[in-house]
Amino acid sequence: MPFPQTRLRRLRATRALRGLIRETEVTPADLVYPMFVAHGLDRREPIAAMPGIERLSIAHAVEEAGEAAALGIPAVLLFGLPAAKDAEGSGAWDEEGVVQLATRAIKQAHPDTLVITDLCLCEYTDHGHCGVVREDSDPPTVDNDATLELLARTAVSQARAGADIVAPSDMMDGRVGVIRAALDEDGMTETPILAYSAKFASAFYGPFREAADSAPAFGDRRGYQMDPANGSEAVREARLDADEGADILMVKPALPYLDLIRRIKDDTDMPLAAYNVSGEYAMVKAAAAAGYLEERATVLETLTSIRRAGADIVITYHAKEAAQWLS
Ligand code: PBG
Repeated sequence: MPFPQTRLRRLRATRALRGLIRETEVTPADLVYPMFVAHGLDRREPIAAMPGIERLSIAHAVEEAGEAAALGIPAVLLFGLPAAKDAEGSGAWDEEGVVQLATRAIKQAHPDTLVITDLCLCEYTDHGHCGVVREDSDPPTVDNDATLELLARTAVSQARAGADIVAPSDMMDGRVGVIRAALDEDGMTETPILAYSAKFASAFYGPFREAADSAPAFGDRRGYQMDPANGSEAVREARLDADEGADILMVKPALPYLDLIRRIKDDTDMPLAAYNVSGEYAMVKAAAAAGYLEERATVLETLTSIRRAGADIVITYHAKEAAQWLS
């Protein structure tokens, strides 16, 4: 005869009882929908490794943002594919750049939708790195401090275009503080910073780099993104971003780093986002298409697990379909 407290099955007997004691909820209000907006595009362009996700024109991005809002998703995250790329990534802070134009258009059509702008140079540089490359070193390296000023400029131009939140994803040291100072100086003291704090040098970004055409032309991102082996360092990154003035922190990718979502949540007590990235999305889509996994159950279990680990916000390409399943 087992001890009474070992009879946990009693709590699983009915759906209603399971609902009463459920610890974690996922709702459309917890989700952020990422979108790729391309300059000069007039149609939707499929992304092979990300079935269901497309490169969008500005008009289509407005339409998609409207669909997300109608499903109860409060925020979109914008990535830009500029008309032209150069060594510095000047398209990132162009007042008429693709993200700036898309932000204005979405805010005008859907004022209640939060527009979060990804803040990085890699989509805008011709070499695909997230900052200014120093050619005088061998191998070439990214110049941290020279990049900060360009990131600050980009943040200000995105906020001026109407971005509700700016989200630096470059992983340069000190960028949160510099961006905060630049926003404040420009009068944008109310614009929060969502910092990609613990962003790992991950193989799971593969499909994104196809979508944004941002694979580095040489080398890799291990000089600035984190080593997947390091957990305590991720906590330190998160604390530094919090100290520099980040309002929301992020762990990216999500599934291979659930332990760090929990550690950073417990350590900082800050609002925390997790990015369920392109490769995580592509795996589920491919397995579902092959008939190996049931897509709906897999996605909902994944999102629940990310929330249970401690994420307040889940950024996911599944957002629209998940919101449909959840309603
Ligand atoms: C830009 C950036 C990347 C992602 C988000 N912002 C790519 C990268 O660092 O190579 C990846 C997102 C995804 O895979 O869905 N620095």
